[in-house]
Amino acid sequence: MTISQYWNSKLFKVLFNLIKKELRNQIIFIYIRIDVCFNYYRSDKKLKFKCPECKTMYNLEDRKIPQNTNIKIKCPKCQFHLNLEDNIIFDNKNDNKKTNLKTKMLENAKALPPLPEVLMKAKEIMKDETKGLKDLADVLEKDQAMATRVLKIANSAYYAIKNPVSSIREACVILGGDTLMQMITLASTAKLLGKELLGYSISAGEVFSHSVFVAFASQLIAEKKFPSLAIDAFSAGLMHDAGKLILNDLMETRKDDFNKFVSTGLKIFQAEKRLFGFDHSEIGHDFLGKWNIPDSQTKAIRWHHEPEKSEKNPLAHIIHIANSMSLLLPEENTRDMDVCKISLGIIGLNDDEVVSIRFEAIDITEAIFHGFID
Ligand SMILES: [Fe+2]
Ligand SMILES: [Fe+2]
Repeated sequence: MTISQYWNSKLFKVLFNLIKKELRNQIIFIYIRIDVCFNYYRSDKKLKFKCPECKTMYNLEDRKIPQNTNIKIKCPKCQFHLNLEDNIIFDNKNDNKKTNLKTKMLENAKALPPLPEVLMKAKEIMKDETKGLKDLADVLEKDQAMATRVLKIANSAYYAIKNPVSSIREACVILGGDTLMQMITLASTAKLLGKELLGYSISAGEVFSHSVFVAFASQLIAEKKFPSLAIDAFSAGLMHDAGKLILNDLMETRKDDFNKFVSTGLKIFQAEKRLFGFDHSEIGHDFLGKWNIPDSQTKAIRWHHEPEKSEKNPLAHIIHIANSMSLLLPEENTRDMDVCKISLGIIGLNDDEVVSIRFEAIDITEAIFHGFID
C-alpha cells in the first residue's frame, strides 16, 4: 500500500477520528486537572461533582462550566463517562453548605403565611367519618372572610354554570364535600400563590394562573386515567411550584447568574441546582412536608421536573405533563411536548386527550382567575 492509498483508506480515517476524539478528551482532563490543582487558591462559586464510579471529587469554577445541558465528561482517573448534570454535588467548596443553605431557607420560609386554620379543620372533617357537610359549613361560617371568598369562587363562571349558590350552606349541599374542599384550598392558597416572584421575573398573576392551570389539568388527567388520585392531583398541582416562593429572595441576589444560565438553554430547575445545589421542587417538598401536606403529594412535587427519578410515581408524571402543557405557547401543540413523551406513555394519554384537557384547563383557569379579580 502506497502512502497516498494509506492516507485515503477507511482504516486511516477511523484511526484519525479516534485519535482526534481521544485528544479532545485529554484536553478536558487536563483542563479539569489544572482546575483541581489550583483549587486550594480559589474561594467560592465552585461546581463540585463526583465520579459515580471511582468516587473522585472534582471542582470547576462556575465561569468555566460549558453553558449547555447534558455535559458529558470522562473521569480523568477511571475513564468512566459521566453526565456532569447528574453528578453535581454542590457549587461551593463545602458539601455541608447545601444542607446549611436549605435549612436556613426553610427557617426563613416560616415567615410565609401558614395554611389557614379553616383549611386544616376542613381537612380533618373530611377525614372523619362521623362528621359531615353540616360540620364543614359550621367551620366555614366562623371565618367570614374565607366564606366570602369561597362563595365568590363558587359563583365564578366555572362552578356557577353548573350550580349557582348564594350561601355557604347551599354550597355545601349542592356542590358536595370534594368540590367545596377544592374551593377552600383555592381560597386558602390564593394569597400565597398571588405573590410576585421578582427573582424569577414572574408576575403575581402568572404565578397564580400557572398554579391553578396545573391543579386543574392534573385533576383532569387523573380523573381520566387514575380516578383515585384526582383529589391529590389537584392539591399537588396547585402547590407544585411552592418552592419558588421560598427561593425567590435568594434568587434575587443571584438573578444575573440565573438569567445567564437560563438564556444558554438550562431549564429553571437546572439553573437553580447549579446556583444553590438544590432546586425549587426539593425545597418545596421539604417545606410542604412541614405543613403536613400528605407524603403522596409532596413526593410527586419533589419529582415534578424529573418524574423518571420518582420510582414510577404516577402523580409525579401527571404533574409533569400538566406543567408541560402550561408552558406550551398558544400556537404549539402536543408535538412540542417532547419533554414529557415518556410521562405521556406511562400515564397513557394520547394526543387528542392532551388537546382536550389542555383547552378545558385553560377555560377553567380563566373562569377562576376572573372570579378572583372581579
Ligand atoms: Fe416547577
Ligand atoms: Fe410549574
